[in-house]
Amino acid sequence: MSAIHNEIMQTRDGERLRGTASARASQAWFLLAVAIWVAVAMFAASQAHSAALPQAVQSTCVDCHSALDANLKVTGEQYAQDIHAQKGLTCAGCHGGDPTSMEAMDKKKGFKGHIDRKAIPELCAKCHADGAYMRQYNPSLRTDQLAQYKTSVHGKRLAGGDSKVAVCIDCHGVHGIRAVKDPRSKVFPLNVADTCARCHADGKYMQGYPIKHDQFAGYSTSVHHEALTVRGDLSAPTCTTCHGNHGAAPPGVASVVNVCSTCHVFQAQLFESSPHKPAFAAAGLPGCVTCHSNHRIVHPSDSMVGTGPQAVCTECHTQGDAGFVAAGHIKEQLVALQAAIGRSDEVLRRAEESGMEVSQAQLDLTSARDQLTKARVTLHSFTPKKIDDDIKVGQVTAEKTRLAGEKALRERDYRRMGLGISLVTILAMLVGLKLYIGQIERK
Ligand code: HEC
Ligand code: HEC
Ligand code: HEC
Ligand code: HEC
Ligand code: HEC
Ligand code: HEC
Ligand code: HEC
Ligand code: HEC
Ligand code: HEC
Repeated sequence: MSAIHNEIMQTRDGERLRGTASARASQAWFLLAVAIWVAVAMFAASQAHSAALPQAVQSTCVDCHSALDANLKVTGEQYAQDIHAQKGLTCAGCHGGDPTSMEAMDKKKGFKGHIDRKAIPELCAKCHADGAYMRQYNPSLRTDQLAQYKTSVHGKRLAGGDSKVAVCIDCHGVHGIRAVKDPRSKVFPLNVADTCARCHADGKYMQGYPIKHDQFAGYSTSVHHEALTVRGDLSAPTCTTCHGNHGAAPPGVASVVNVCSTCHVFQAQLFESSPHKPAFAAAGLPGCVTCHSNHRIVHPSDSMVGTGPQAVCTECHTQGDAGFVAAGHIKEQLVALQAAIGRSDEVLRRAEESGMEVSQAQLDLTSARDQLTKARVTLHSFTPKKIDDDIKVGQVTAEKTRLAGEKALRERDYRRMGLGISLVTILAMLVGLKLYIGQIERK
C-alpha cells in the first residue's frame, strides 16, 4: 500500500521534476528572446538617434564643446535642432576653422573664435545677403534682412556703437536657430511678443533710453493679442506685423502708424475722406491710434462716441463746436437703433416662446443688427449724414420686425380667445348633456 503510494509519489515527483526542467528551458528561451529584442531595439534606437543627428553635427568641435562649461558648451543635440545643421552647414559656416581635425581652432584655417555682437549682422549676412548662394538652398527666401535691419532703429543704433539693441541672434537664437515657420521658432507669430519683451518689457535693461517699457504690457491686454492667442487667429497682428520684421516699417508703408489700414480697410477708407484726415494731419496727429491707442487697443463700444465720460470725442471737441454736436447726435442715433433692435428682439422672443412662427422676422432682425455694425464702421467717415443713412435702414427693419412680432402676439391672443370660447362651449354642452341625461333617468 505504502510502496504503491511511494511509487506514485515518485512518478509524480518525476513528473514534477520534468515539468520544472521544461519550465526553466522555456524561461531561458524567453529571457534570450527578450535580450535579443532589447538589443535590436537599442540598436534601432541608436541608429534612429544618429540618423536624427545630421552629419554636420558630428564634428571635432562638438566632441570638445559638448563637454565644456556653460558659456562654451554647445552640444550635438542642441545644434541638431538648428536649421543650419539640418542644411548641412557645420560650425565652420559661422566660426571658420576645420571641424574635421583636432586642430579645429587653427587661425590659419580661418578660425574666428569669439564673435562680437556688433559683427553679428554682417556675419549672418555673409550668406543671407548673398542671393546666388541662398538660391541654392531656398529660392523663395528673402535676402534683404541686413539691408532692412540697417534702416531700423536697432540697426542705426548698432552702427552708432550701441550693442544693447537687438541683433539677429536676439530674435532668432543661436546654435538652435529654427526655420521661421516652425512653431517653436522665437519669431513664430505666437512667440514674437515674448522675444521682444525680453528687452522691451525690462525696465532695468531699457533704462537710459527715451522710450517707455510698457508696450508688451499694453499689447498683452489688446484685442489683437486676444485674437491671436485666445482664438488662434494668426491674421491678428503681433509686434513685428506693425513694426516690420527687420526694418523700422515694412516696405511700402510710409509710417508704422499707417499699418492699421492694411487690415482694417473700410475704416481706413472712410477716415481718408473724413474731416479728421486734414485736421489731424495739420495737428501732426496720427490717424487711428489717436482714438484707439497703439498697443492697448480695447474692444470699442458705443460709450467711446458722444459726450459722455468715456467718449474720445470730448478730448478735442467742446460744447458748442460742430464736432461736439455731431458726436452727441451720432451717439443718440446708435443708441436709438440699439434700443429698437432690443424691443423687436423681446417681442419676437415672447412670440416664439408661445409657439408662434416668427423665424422670418427673426432672420430679418439680423440684418438690422448688421446695419448697426455697419453704422459703427461708417462712423469713421465722421459725417453724420452718412451714419444717419445706415441707421435709417436699420430702424425700418427693426420697426418691421417688431410689427411682425406684435402681429404674431395678437394672433396668439386671438387663438387663445378662440380656444377659450370653444372650451366654454364644450363645457356648457357637457353640463347640458349631463342635465339632460339626469332628466331622462328620472323619467
Ligand atoms: C580639442 C578640443 C576643441 C576642439 C576640437 C574645438 N574647440 Fe573650441 N574651444 C575649446 C576650448 C578648451 C576653448 C576655451 C579655451 C580657448 O579659448 O582656447 C574653446 C573656445 C572656443 C570658442 C571661444 C573662442 C574665443 O576666442 O573665446 C569658440 C567660438 C570655439 N571654441 C569654437 C570652436 C569651433 C567652431 C570648433 C570646430 C571648428 C572648435 N571650437 C573646436 C576646445 C575645442
Ligand atoms: C549660424 C552661425 C553659427 C553657427 C553655425 C555656430 N555658431 Fe557658435 N556662435 C555664433 C554666434 C553669433 C555667437 C556669439 C553669441 C553671443 O554673442 O552671444 C556664437 C558663440 C559661440 C560660442 C561662445 C563663444 C564666446 O565667445 O563666448 C561657442 C563656444 C560656439 N559658438 C561654438 C560653436 C560650435 C561648437 C558650433 C557648431 C556646433 C557653432 N558654434 C555653430 C554663431 C554660430
Ligand atoms: C527684431 C527682431 C529680428 C531681428 C533683429 C532679426 N530678425 Fe530675422 N526675422 C524676424 C522675424 C519676426 C521674421 C519673420 C518671421 C515670419 O515670417 O513669421 C524674420 C525672418 C527672417 C528670415 C526668414 C526670411 C524672411 O526674411 O522672412 C531670415 C533668413 C532672417 N530673419 C535672418 C535675419 C538676419 C540675418 C538678421 C540680422 C541681420 C535678422 N534676421 C535680424 C525678426 C528679426
Ligand atoms: C554659411 C552661410 C550662413 C550663415 C553664416 C548664416 N546662415 Fe542662416 N541659413 C543659411 C542657409 C543655407 C539656410 C537654409 C535656407 C533654407 O533652406 O531655407 C539658413 C537658414 C536660416 C534661417 C531660417 C530661414 C527659414 O527658412 O525660415 C534663419 C532664421 C537664419 N538662417 C538665420 C541666421 C542667422 C541669425 C545667422 C547669423 C547668426 C545666420 N543665419 C548665418 C546659411 C547661413
Ligand atoms: C536685445 C534687446 C532687444 C530686443 C530683443 C528687441 N529690442 Fe527693440 N530696441 C532695443 C533697444 C535697446 C532699443 C533702443 C531704444 C531707443 O529707441 O532709444 C530698441 C528700439 C526699438 C524700436 C524703436 C523705438 C523708438 O521709437 O525709438 C522699436 C520699434 C523696437 N525696438 C521694436 C522691437 C521689436 C518689435 C522687437 C521684437 C521683434 C524688438 N524691438 C526686440 C532692444 C531690443
Ligand atoms: C497694431 C500695431 C502694433 C502692434 C501689434 C505693436 N505696436 Fe508698437 N507701436 C505701434 C505704433 C502705431 C506705435 C507708435 C509709433 C509712432 O508714434 O511713430 C508704436 C510704438 C512702439 C515703440 C516706440 C516707443 C513707444 O512706446 O511709443 C516700441 C518700442 C514698440 N512700439 C514696440 C512694440 C512691441 C515690443 C510690441 C509687441 C509686444 C508692439 N510694439 C506691438 C504699433 C504697434
Ligand atoms: C495684421 C492685421 C491687423 C493690423 C495691422 C491691425 N489690426 Fe486691428 N484687428 C485685426 C484682427 C484680426 C482683429 C480681431 C477681429 C475681431 O475681433 O473680430 C482686430 C481687431 C481690432 C479692433 C477691435 C474690433 C472689435 O470689433 O472689437 C480694433 C479697434 C482694432 N483692431 C484697431 C486696430 C488699429 C488701431 C490698428 C493699428 C494701430 C490695427 N487694428 C492694426 C487685425 C489687424
Ligand atoms: C476720432 C476717433 C477715431 C478715429 C480717428 C478712428 N476710430 Fe475707430 N472707432 C472709434 C469709435 C468711437 C469706435 C466705436 C464705435 C462704436 O462701437 O460705437 C470705433 C470703432 C472701431 C472699430 C470696431 C468697430 C467697427 O466695426 O468699426 C475698428 C476696427 C476701428 N474703429 C478701427 C479704426 C481704424 C483702423 C482707424 C484708422 C483708419 C480708426 N478706427 C480711427 C473712433 C475712432
Ligand atoms: C484728437 C482730436 C479729436 C478727436 C479725439 C475727435 N475730433 Fe472731431 N475734429 C477734430 C478737429 C481738429 C476737427 C476739425 C476742426 C473742427 O471742425 O472742429 C474735427 C472735426 C470733426 C467733425 C466735422 C465738424 C464740421 O466742421 O462739420 C466732426 C463731425 C467730428 N469732428 C466728429 C468727431 C467725433 C464723433 C469724435 C469722437 C468719436 C471726434 N470728432 C473726435 C479733432 C478731434
